[in-house]
Amino acid sequence: MAKRSALILGSTGLIGGHCLDYLLEDDSYGTVIVAVRKETKRKHKKLKQVVVDFENLEKRKEVFKVNDVFCCLGTTIRKAGSQEQFRKVDLEYPVRAAELSAKNGVKQFSIVSAMGADRKSMIFYNRIKGEVESEIQKFPFSSVMIFRPSLLTGEREEVRSGEKLGETISNVLSFAFIGPFATYRPIEGKAVAHAMVLESKKNVPGKRIYESGEIRKISEAG
Ligand SMILES: NC(=O)c1ccc[n+]([C@@H]2O[C@H](COP(=O)([O-])OP(=O)(O)OC[C@H]3O[C@@H](n4cnc5c(N)ncnc54)[C@H](OP(=O)(O)O)[C@@H]3O)[C@@H](O)[C@H]2O)c1
Repeated sequence: MAKRSALILGSTGLIGGHCLDYLLEDDSYGTVIVAVRKETKRKHKKLKQVVVDFENLEKRKEVFKVNDVFCCLGTTIRKAGSQEQFRKVDLEYPVRAAELSAKNGVKQFSIVSAMGADRKSMIFYNRIKGEVESEIQKFPFSSVMIFRPSLLTGEREEVRSGEKLGETISNVLSFAFIGPFATYRPIEGKAVAHAMVLESKKNVPGKRIYESGEIRKISEAG
């Protein structure tokens, strides 16, 4: 059977980095392209790094000639410096990527959104995540998978106090995240990436939204 090809946007991040690890070790995938701002030292026979200008993604539209796209882009308002810059990374770049993916025949588009995504929300972050979700769903992919993790945990170079606090709360109050509250429990970035890759291999057509509790279950079962 022909091996699949994948493109990751955001492969240098927490979820994107784990996504890259899973895809490289998965025999169903023969080629993994990463669109990066700066080439990394990572080497692998299946890996192709392509340096792109995210403001002009169409200049490297050949990277979108793959089966599956995994969009793990994201920033924080603090890091981006303004709401406008945040909007670019979390909304404009993913939507442009989805448009180019659809034009180039991509079948499956998976994206990391966030718990609470709602285009009508009063909260800017949730509103942008809601907007990106609804824009992505307009493109004619055979499958659109939207992942809505709760607070992420996992090793990253920069310290994010919210995530550290989330990890502590998750450990100390693990008994509180049961039943209907299970979905609020902080989740490892690695588990999100795992679920994304597992779900992409199921080839289920249509649009699906995965809440955090379900993401955890998929990863644990997989
Ligand atoms: N943190 C949380 O608790 C949390 C919770 C729920 C959902 N999420 C969402 O989950 C997604 C993934 O989060 P993460 O923590 O894995 O992300 P991350 O570690 O911060 O990585 C973000 C990725 O986006 C890229 N990126 C950032 N700014 C960019 C720019 N201006 N132009 C091009 N690429 C840019 C980064 O590339 P460079 O290496 O080049 O900067 C990196 O590959 C995000 O959409 C986030 O909103 C996060």
